[in-house]
Amino acid sequence: MIILGIETSCDETGAAVVKDGKHLLSNVVASSQDLHAKTGGIIPEIAARQQLASINPVINEAMAVAKVSRDDIDAIAVTVGPGLIGSLLVGVETAKTISVLWQKPIVPVNHLLGHVYATFIKRKLPTFPAIALVVSGGHTDMIYMKDHPRRAKVKWLGGTRDDAAGEAFDKIGRLLNLPYPGGPKLAALADDYVKSHPQIKLNLFPRPLIATPDFDFSFSGLKTSVKNYLEKNKDIDKGFITAQVQAAIVDVIVAKATLAREKYRASSFLLAGGVGANNRLRRKLGEGMPNIGKPGCLHIPAVNLCTDNAACIATFAFHNYKPHPWRRVYAKPNLTIVEL
Ligand code: KG4
Ligand code: ZN
Repeated sequence: MIILGIETSCDETGAAVVKDGKHLLSNVVASSQDLHAKTGGIIPEIAARQQLASINPVINEAMAVAKVSRDDIDAIAVTVGPGLIGSLLVGVETAKTISVLWQKPIVPVNHLLGHVYATFIKRKLPTFPAIALVVSGGHTDMIYMKDHPRRAKVKWLGGTRDDAAGEAFDKIGRLLNLPYPGGPKLAALADDYVKSHPQIKLNLFPRPLIATPDFDFSFSGLKTSVKNYLEKNKDIDKGFITAQVQAAIVDVIVAKATLAREKYRASSFLLAGGVGANNRLRRKLGEGMPNIGKPGCLHIPAVNLCTDNAACIATFAFHNYKPHPWRRVYAKPNLTIVEL
């Protein structure tokens, strides 16, 4: 089965052609991040206008790279939420139009569950029950999946009480005058610093909620600590601060992941979302977990599939195939991770 995926929930415009939920025939992503770098954050109106301009070329490119025509496509999968309303509308209305014109079924996809399915692409398939942790720019959610969400309801175990993990990286990046989005830049500076200072003690900042016996996260206090530190200490080494920040965020995520693994003893642990691209997180999480194939093993997507893309959206639709009449496909900006 060949599915054309479409993703426009935030500032990316993505289209991908995926065969049988695992073979990426193409995966095209156009980002308007450079425009947002000028303002230090996303301006929703600008993101949506850019997506409107990009969506057709991106879909055409995805079809061309995959060397497929409309006749080869079996279904359209589209992100319906959560996300920015103007951005979501671009993808949803485009997908509906293509579905009607090409006479193809359309499958609405929850963006957050879509992220989780990046772990199903190209690699050994995760088995259920699974714990999934989505750490993205807008969300931090831990869930228990007894089976694919289409077959068994997803249980929410916990999430952030304030800023999401990626949001913390981005906002602290901004305090350090790093260009938007701060996450990858902060991580790169931090990795370089730790490499050249292997003896560094990484305990400067607090690890909020690290020891609470639940799956709650809170990152806004960390941001305040960094802000206070920067106000008191003018002559700082950015590398040193970024290393401290990254270690604090990663420690908390690893601690909560370990708690979930010990409590639920699931067959697989799935890490997903943009912060899943973080090298330190990937390494530290992997250190405590069994190898792929063993019970409780860790599944992490390829780095380029952690951040927003349409390949994981098409993959979700393959494993949870439920087409909707196009008239009943809507943009749902406030969709939660437990809703289909
Ligand atoms: O999942 P995603 O692409 O978009 C949302 O659905 O939010 O996640 C984007 C987030 C941004 O906050 C970005 O700074 C963060 O993921 N991110 C990273 C890294 N790469 C992307 N954070 C830390 N380290 C990275 N290497
Ligand atoms: Zn995302």
